Amino acid sequence: MTQDRTDAPAPAPEAGGGTPAPADDAREGSGLSRRTALGAAGAVAGAAALTAGGFAAGRTAASSPQTSAYDFFGAHQSGIVTPQQDRLHFAAFDITTDSTARVVSLLRRWTEAAARLMAGSELGSGAAGGAYAAPPDDTGEALGLPASGLTITVGFGPGLFDERFGLASRRPDQLIDLPQFSGDTLDERFVGGDLCIQACADDPQVAVHAIRNLSRIAFGDAAIRWAQLGFGRTSSTTREQDTPRNFMGFKDGTANLRAEDTALVDRWVWADASDGQDWMAGGSYLVARRIRILAEIWDRTSLQEQEATVGRTKGSGAPLSGGSEFTAPDFAATGRDDAPLIRPDSHVALAHPSAHGGAMMLRRGYNFTDGADELGRLDAGLFFLAYVRDPREQFVPVQNALSSSDVMTVEYLRTTGSALFAVPRGVAPGSALGAEGAYVGQELFA
Ligand code: HEM
Repeated sequence: MTQDRTDAPAPAPEAGGGTPAPADDAREGSGLSRRTALGAAGAVAGAAALTAGGFAAGRTAASSPQTSAYDFFGAHQSGIVTPQQDRLHFAAFDITTDSTARVVSLLRRWTEAAARLMAGSELGSGAAGGAYAAPPDDTGEALGLPASGLTITVGFGPGLFDERFGLASRRPDQLIDLPQFSGDTLDERFVGGDLCIQACADDPQVAVHAIRNLSRIAFGDAAIRWAQLGFGRTSSTTREQDTPRNFMGFKDGTANLRAEDTALVDRWVWADASDGQDWMAGGSYLVARRIRILAEIWDRTSLQEQEATVGRTKGSGAPLSGGSEFTAPDFAATGRDDAPLIRPDSHVALAHPSAHGGAMMLRRGYNFTDGADELGRLDAGLFFLAYVRDPREQFVPVQNALSSSDVMTVEYLRTTGSALFAVPRGVAPGSALGAEGAYVGQELFA
């Protein structure tokens, strides 16, 4: 399967006209700001027009992440191989209706709204338009802000396939009920969900606005079960991006799969019809794990022990076997004492593809902090997000290895949240949206 580059930044569509904003416009920071209803409709139509007949071609990247507007339409949903933005608002939802028609209607409304939001447009009549006696269609806090590289990614949890909607036979084998791993200290407040939305942007207000308005649209059909804010990406998903640092202070994402690795992304990220469920072809599976870092303990650990625990140096991120950040780790290399330079119980040794039959994953996590606990310790860590083609092969064995032997996981981490979602393919370029239009996941309901 060839990978279509659906996630390159799209040119910002102009209000009303559907023509791309001049690249210089974006470069100078004027970008695409949120528009009134008339403009919004045009912007969405523009996004569709831009993608019709070949979304892979003709993209120009806005030079500033603050101003880029990514294309909603494509073979794959955005927010997977898209250059990882710096902010996250993630929400898992419970479906509160038993009606399949209502679920389909919700997905249609989410799809239409997601396309508008990603284009930097307001919803409906906007925050200050519409009937004076009714609540505005848009909550308004993103009015005047640029699209900010917003991506919205919708996923389906195991609950969508229960007895309520007659979809049990269409549940992919890959969408397992994740086991409780050894050492997990799950808090029911952060577990599961029938649906999920991952909203990533370069401005937290834009990401939060997206989740707030999409949950508002869901009123009566779905309700937020749990949600997570993330600041500071902990991965790179393209080669152009620098490797960021996680809350342990280490570079994170060095050995990640990247958009440019198209053959590997096809192999390890995108589901295929041959995997068992046609409707998932072009989709992926999203593992979400809320992992608390015991910062107070980690911060009292020597640099030597920290580096041995990770298997890389803290400064450059080079493997302890030598070289620089992107040198491949040499697990056979030994020091003067004949002991391996990278400890077998280090995170890198236990997570490395060579320990798992070559299996890789596309990590897309975020740092988080949610205040402090009753003992005054930071409730902070890494909201681990990873996209895989088959969690049974690419996540469960890695997590089992980490949970049983990884010093980092056992000594310094506590997993408090866990969920798995099937993320269907994208909405085809040129599709009409709206009451009778295309929607995310429609192949499942066909
Ligand atoms: C708080 C939680 C975690 C932290 C702080 C963390 C940190 C790191 C760091 C610093 C690296 C080395 C740099 C890099 O290649 O990205 C790394 C690599 C990696 N981690 Fe984690 N990690 C965490 C959780 C997990 C989990 C839950 C998994 C999967 C079950 C995982 C899988 C991997 C993989 C596959 C690699 C790349 C190994 C390689 O190919 O060299 N990590 N992680």
